[in-house]
Amino acid sequence: MKKITIAIDGFSSCGKSTMAKDLARAVGYVYIDSGAMYRAVTLYSLRKGYFKGQTIDTDALRRDMPDIRISFRFDPDTQRSQTYLNGENVEADIRGMEVSSHVSPIAALDFVREALVRLQQEMGREKGIVMDGRDIGTAVFPDAELKIFVTASPDIRARRRFDELKAKGQPASYEEILKNVEERDYIDQHRDVSPLRKADDAILLDNSHMSIAEQKAWLLEQFKHATGYEAD
Ligand code: DC
Repeated sequence: MKKITIAIDGFSSCGKSTMAKDLARAVGYVYIDSGAMYRAVTLYSLRKGYFKGQTIDTDALRRDMPDIRISFRFDPDTQRSQTYLNGENVEADIRGMEVSSHVSPIAALDFVREALVRLQQEMGREKGIVMDGRDIGTAVFPDAELKIFVTASPDIRARRRFDELKAKGQPASYEEILKNVEERDYIDQHRDVSPLRKADDAILLDNSHMSIAEQKAWLLEQFKHATGYEAD
């Protein structure tokens, strides 16, 4: 059966990765979390001391870019994909607040985006992929056969991220997370390079009041429309 490319874009913390992961599993596709790649570059920059507040030593980062290797490996124990930075599993480190509050300026750098978009396009060459992010339907795979643009209200998204961090035992403040969600929305939508926007041919999904099960059924319906194929 002919495989397609599925692009899932939208605001931060609106459950894009959960939905993209579930959909990929249900239809037997590869799932790629493009946000994890921007987070890995952010972690690298923090560790190297390239941040002075929110200002970045772009010359140093630009010079290092060719040596920053990012990959994903599936962990059979947790049944989850893990992000690797230069051979090290950084999955836990890239999800904390320090990386979350520094990632937007990294994602606004043109040379970072160019390198990561190229890598993402390589990963999707064979199709049969579900990728989530901000510019997947507009810049990475403009020809994707199925594009979904997800949104939910900022307070609902902050609550979800708060619950997620709490469940992992990581320190979190709801107010701080809400502020971070709103700031990232603003930067993501207003940056010069590949700002977050819905592709004209993307289907809009507001999941503020949808359960995971309802959302999954909705997604499988869209997949069926796009491919003519019915998944379990
Ligand atoms: O989805 P996320 O919260 O893990 O994304 C982290 C950051 O990376 C977020 O601020 C937006 C940015 N990003 C991006 O600019 N383009 C993508 N394709 C994915 C993420």
